[in-house]
Amino acid sequence: MPAVRARDLSKSYGSGHTRVDALRHATFDLEDGELLALLGPSGSGKTTLLTIVGALLEPTSGQVVIGDREVTQLRERERTAFRARRIGFVFQSFNLVPYLTARENLTIMSSVAHLDRAEVSHRADRLLQELGIEARRDNLPEQLSGGERQRVAIARALVTDPALILVDEPTASLDTALGSQVVCLLAEEIKRRGKSGIMVTHDSRMAAVADRTITILDGVLTAGGPHVASHHRAG
Ligand SMILES: Nc1ncnc2c1ncn2[C@@H]1O[C@H](COP(=O)(O)OP(=O)(O)OP(=O)(O)O)[C@@H](O)[C@H]1O
Ligand SMILES: [Mg+2]
Repeated sequence: MPAVRARDLSKSYGSGHTRVDALRHATFDLEDGELLALLGPSGSGKTTLLTIVGALLEPTSGQVVIGDREVTQLRERERTAFRARRIGFVFQSFNLVPYLTARENLTIMSSVAHLDRAEVSHRADRLLQELGIEARRDNLPEQLSGGERQRVAIARALVTDPALILVDEPTASLDTALGSQVVCLLAEEIKRRGKSGIMVTHDSRMAAVADRTITILDGVLTAGGPHVASHHRAG
């Protein structure tokens, strides 16, 4: 069973002359254990697609199935709970809670996802160690470097042990060398832990790290591998 099945996803923002068709009939599968890179220029619909797959945003039409659940059918509360338990997000802006320490930014996820506190704490400590930020665990985000913050964000995405990891442009705000390191680290973590992942990026270096690349242009997916199908209708 694929980790994600996306079928005929479309998303329009606004209406009338301000209407933007950000996503048009996107169809693809993400296989179990597969890491997919999603490439495309600014404004092409990458974040839109990722947030729909991650059940943060409802599509205008179409279907997203994660595992055996059709998330586009879930009601708001169920969707929130499903997301917290099953999906790990790494956003470009990291979204760390500024008044919580590095470690607390991880352990708080036990409340968010309604998971066992001791188990999540244990996993948090192990991740801090594995990602080399153990010594910074009691620092607030503002007392961390960009790369350290990124590592905390990666650890937070993994701490609930989700099957699916969604990453939006991890390199954008980092310098090139560090960005490349973070991409590799994240890809390694996803692979090593047997997760499935989608990484949104502007960066073609990602193509080398991912199992497969798909490209989006003006909301239309283009085949970049054997599993991709794109149903683009003219207009
Ligand atoms: N909330 C919104 N309301 C109206 N239009 C939106 C909204 N969010 C995105 N858009 C538009 O939808 C299109 C796709 O946006 P999206 O954020 O998905 O692009 P992106 O590929 O992630 O771009 P970037 O690489 O700059 O992050 C753009 O034209 C954008 O202006
Ligand atoms: Mg974006």
